[in-house]
Amino acid sequence: MRTNVATLIERSARLETQDIDFGAFGSRPLDPSSLRCLRYMHDVEGHTICYLRDILVTRAHRDPEITAFLACWSYEEHWHGQAIAQVLEAHGEESGASRLSTMRQKLSRNDSIRPAVFSAVSALTRHLPAVHMAWGALNEWTTQAGYGRLIEKAQHPVLTELLRRIMRQEGRHIDFYASQAHTRLAASPSAQRLTRQLLRRWWAPVGSGVMPKSEVRFLASHLFGDDQGLEVARRIDRQFDRLPGLDGLELFEGTLARMFARA
Ligand SMILES: [Fe+2]
Ligand SMILES: [Fe+2]
Repeated sequence: MRTNVATLIERSARLETQDIDFGAFGSRPLDPSSLRCLRYMHDVEGHTICYLRDILVTRAHRDPEITAFLACWSYEEHWHGQAIAQVLEAHGEESGASRLSTMRQKLSRNDSIRPAVFSAVSALTRHLPAVHMAWGALNEWTTQAGYGRLIEKAQHPVLTELLRRIMRQEGRHIDFYASQAHTRLAASPSAQRLTRQLLRRWWAPVGSGVMPKSEVRFLASHLFGDDQGLEVARRIDRQFDRLPGLDGLELFEGTLARMFARA
């Protein structure tokens, strides 16, 4: 399992939205639940550059394949956020820089110390890039699945087209992270043990660290709380099982089950 990084980078591009009819939302707006999901997705896509900050303070910055990918990844994620911003704007909602700015003013103290923690852990183990790649693969799988579920829930042709385009790019992100994770984990039982431990202890759905708990719960239950959603979650866990040493974690389904039990 080896993805050609040069090809991935070659294909990297700003999301094409010129021909998307955002004006159609004027005569046929989205339902409130779909809009609530899109606000979350907008904020988290827009936060990618801050996640990049945390990765680059680790040993990952020493690997030119990883940094080349991350440069393209953060650019693509930025335009995913901007595309969703246009949908919110078409509904008369705040979006883009002003919304992101409000969100960043509210970030917790944990956010301030995260780069220092990542940097310190990276000095103690050379296996953090393996953890990051596996973590990234799971985040991209769940993100892509979330967009797929929103297409089903919203049933809006314009949104469907836009999200399908985003999903295609998320698919390439998955290819990179999963391929890197596979190679790094296969090479080291210690990397497998560390990745298992950290994911089991700390993994949470994308955006959990920066979005209000109420919004994380809403998104999870709206998109993954029914039978189809749970089936998608199980499928992602089975894909994750195929990474060396990471079988049987049931991270996504387990996290959802705990979240729904608390609610
Ligand atoms: Fe994205
Ligand atoms: Fe992505």
